[in-house]
Amino acid sequence: MSKICVVGTGYVGLVTGTCFADLGNDVICLDVDHERIDKLNKGEMPIYEPGLEQLVMQNVHSGRLHFTTDYTEALKGVEYAFIAVGTPSGNDGEADLQYVRSAAEAIADHVDWPIIVINKSTVPVGTGDWVAEVINQRRNSHPLEFSVVSNPEFLREGSAISDFTNPDRVVLGSLKKEAAQKVALLYQPLRCTIMITDLRTAEMIKYASNAFLATRISFINEIANICESLGADVTEVARGMGLDKRIGPSFLDAGLGWGGSCFPKDVKALEHMAVLHGTQPQLLQAVMEINRNQRRRAVMKLRKLLGNLNDKTIGVLGLAFKPNTDDMRESPAVEIIHLLQNEGAHIKAYDPQAMPNAAKILHQVELCDTPYAVAEGADALLLATHWNEFKQLDFTRVHEIMRQPVLLDGRNLWDAEPLRALGFKYIGVGRAVNGTLQEEE
Ligand SMILES: NC(=O)c1ccc[n+]([C@@H]2O[C@H](COP(=O)([O-])OP(=O)(O)OC[C@H]3O[C@@H](n4cnc5c(N)ncnc54)[C@H](O)[C@@H]3O)[C@@H](O)[C@H]2O)c1
Repeated sequence: MSKICVVGTGYVGLVTGTCFADLGNDVICLDVDHERIDKLNKGEMPIYEPGLEQLVMQNVHSGRLHFTTDYTEALKGVEYAFIAVGTPSGNDGEADLQYVRSAAEAIADHVDWPIIVINKSTVPVGTGDWVAEVINQRRNSHPLEFSVVSNPEFLREGSAISDFTNPDRVVLGSLKKEAAQKVALLYQPLRCTIMITDLRTAEMIKYASNAFLATRISFINEIANICESLGADVTEVARGMGLDKRIGPSFLDAGLGWGGSCFPKDVKALEHMAVLHGTQPQLLQAVMEINRNQRRRAVMKLRKLLGNLNDKTIGVLGLAFKPNTDDMRESPAVEIIHLLQNEGAHIKAYDPQAMPNAAKILHQVELCDTPYAVAEGADALLLATHWNEFKQLDFTRVHEIMRQPVLLDGRNLWDAEPLRALGFKYIGVGRAVNGTLQEEE
């Protein structure tokens, strides 16, 4: 059993802390957000993540998981301090390291014994060295015995617990191999591949992985747009490609593009790093541009279907950036809603989990309790997030209550033919039928 502190209780920190507690460690999670910690201490979850509430409660009851806002209490006697704070985009697209800095400074201020500082936040290449400098400067004439290990996190919101407990690999980067090996012991019960590298390589693995996944999505979206012009069906194209073992099926779903708390800021940060160091990252720039365009194309399609969007009512199904999360950061739905509002459209919306966040973020949007309330009186329905509960709506009812039976399936969730048979005008992304363009249907 090891004593661990996790700084930051967001999607990564809370899952990390809870899973390490579940593996038998003594874990204390710290956050500067008092409301968040109060909630956790009352047994309420500050975020939605499937299975998390139960796992938190189990480990709190077993006495292995604690929450605090107090650094002195959090760091008392710990051997491992994980930093899992946010690294949002700065003004120029760089990663903003202010939260990492304050976490590193707090560790320097509250520890007087050998400690391993493990960075789980996604940070620019070179940040591990910088964290060591921050700690050394802070300690000044009272040096601290510590090592920095980079341990990038690859979990996905919506399946975070199983991603953490069944990782494809764990990456540990350090200038001190023994420190990385000590952190590896924490992961040993997971029986997964553990890759030990130097600090900068570990940091780069995270950015390169996210940029590659974003590239796959932008690639298939570009193919989808070409399919729309040429009369092919991208869902079948992606299936045909994905059956090739060299390609594989994942991250080949055409849609409204990638969003969330990671891909947008990480691709931007990698581009920023590249430009700053004299490289021209043309591919990354194109990947981002295709993604921006995908949102604009959705609005263009609605304009084509409905004419002028002024005073039209558009119902939006799904607001989270993907299913099984309440996270709306950089959600395509949010950007499309703003674009539609700029054209004078009235928006109604519903999401199974993101309504509390939606109420904080969205303005002049009629938030509804059910998909049917969204459909009522709408001139078009836009499916923005492919939640399971949208798969089998009662489309006869939807058809009756909409003002115009127009469906824009931004995630290619629904079968076109039965919907067309019910009298809907259905458009997906990159889905032509028998070589005819969808817009002509
Ligand atoms: N969300 C994901 O799916 C995911 C996946 C992999 C990696 N990451 C990376 O992990 C990091 C954390 O992401 P997240 O989504 O969990 O962020 P988040 O915004 O959900 O949570 C960050 C938490 O850190 C807290 N915090 C900020 N400064 C602090 C400080 N000085 N001391 C203590 N707490 C502090 C905030 O109050 C917040 O609760 C980011 O760098 C992100 O890029 C995220």
